[in-house]
Amino acid sequence: MIYSRITGSGSYLPANVVSNDDLAKRMDTSDEWIRSRTGIRQRHIAAADETSSSLAFEASKAALASAGVGAQNVDLIIVATSTPDFIFPSTACLLQAKLGIKGCAAFDLQAVCSGFVYALATADLFIRSGQHRCALIVGAEVFSRILDWNDRGTCVLFGDGAGAVVLQADDKPGIMASALHADGSHAGILSVAGSVCGGKATGDPFLRMDGPAVFKFAVRVLDEVARETLAKCGQRVEDVDWLIPHQANLRILESTAKRLGLPPEKLIVTVDRHGNTSAASVPLALDLAIRDGRIKSGHKVMLQGVGGGFTWGAVLVQM
Ligand code: ACO
Repeated sequence: MIYSRITGSGSYLPANVVSNDDLAKRMDTSDEWIRSRTGIRQRHIAAADETSSSLAFEASKAALASAGVGAQNVDLIIVATSTPDFIFPSTACLLQAKLGIKGCAAFDLQAVCSGFVYALATADLFIRSGQHRCALIVGAEVFSRILDWNDRGTCVLFGDGAGAVVLQADDKPGIMASALHADGSHAGILSVAGSVCGGKATGDPFLRMDGPAVFKFAVRVLDEVARETLAKCGQRVEDVDWLIPHQANLRILESTAKRLGLPPEKLIVTVDRHGNTSAASVPLALDLAIRDGRIKSGHKVMLQGVGGGFTWGAVLVQM
């Protein structure tokens, strides 16, 4: 039987850190408002010459080094992003070239803030099928480029960054179960409803959100999908060592842990330092907690995504 295991992780955050006080100098907001509503204290913002593929490259190098795997061994690259460098070629192809390799399958996956969880579940199936043996799975975003910096209700929430894992074939699980869902009828509560047509951006190329609607939706589906994923592999809530939901908002994270009946100590939180980095948030949090020694070999980690689409999903992984 072939399973897939995470054998390495890495992440990258742009050097420029923007605090809530920095934002309050540019718009009508305050550290107190942002912290009390979201738990966010600061976010990293990409430099003008940084793109999703360049952030992905840094995170990927770190993930490959921690797995002890050379780039030439990678036979599948999936980049989850809603902020690709270009319409095409895909960010995954640009990353492949940056890594100095050729020939392996490479594609982007678009499921907004659920993107990394979707990509990990997809790669797991590629590996289990025997078609691929060594996948590089990346979440990389420069959401700062699609924010309306005049809309204080959204621009304070997001940040830029990338996280990556190496997923390899093994005879022991690894990924224990996953569940993915979408409901396109909720497209209107979170969208960037713009496109390129005739050489111009058309529609609305900025992120728009109905915050309270997103909040309610996220808390409900994160609870449901965690239970569904546990049931698929015969595990109980008590078996989960760490919960890593998409880092949208501290109140969403805490409500999710509470609804599941998990103590707050089992929740990995990075939204305070990173803001919401969309598809990058889960691998960034995973890498941080592996590197600081909280997540250890053998631990069971519940990774959860929820985001525009609406999309949502979870992966239970044994490290
Ligand atoms: N600073 C100060 N005041 C603000 C700001 C700001 N940055 N933004 C909005 N306000 C004001 C509003 O104008 C409003 O003022 P009014 O009452 O005079 O009209 C007031 O604050 C309250 O606004 P609400 O939107 O009702 O505030 P709420 O308590 O719902 O918090 C928030 C807003 C933080 C967006 C919340 O709804 C939320 O967290 N929703 C979840 C959304 C989320 O996390 N999205 C991330 C992307 S989605 C995803 O990743 C799944």
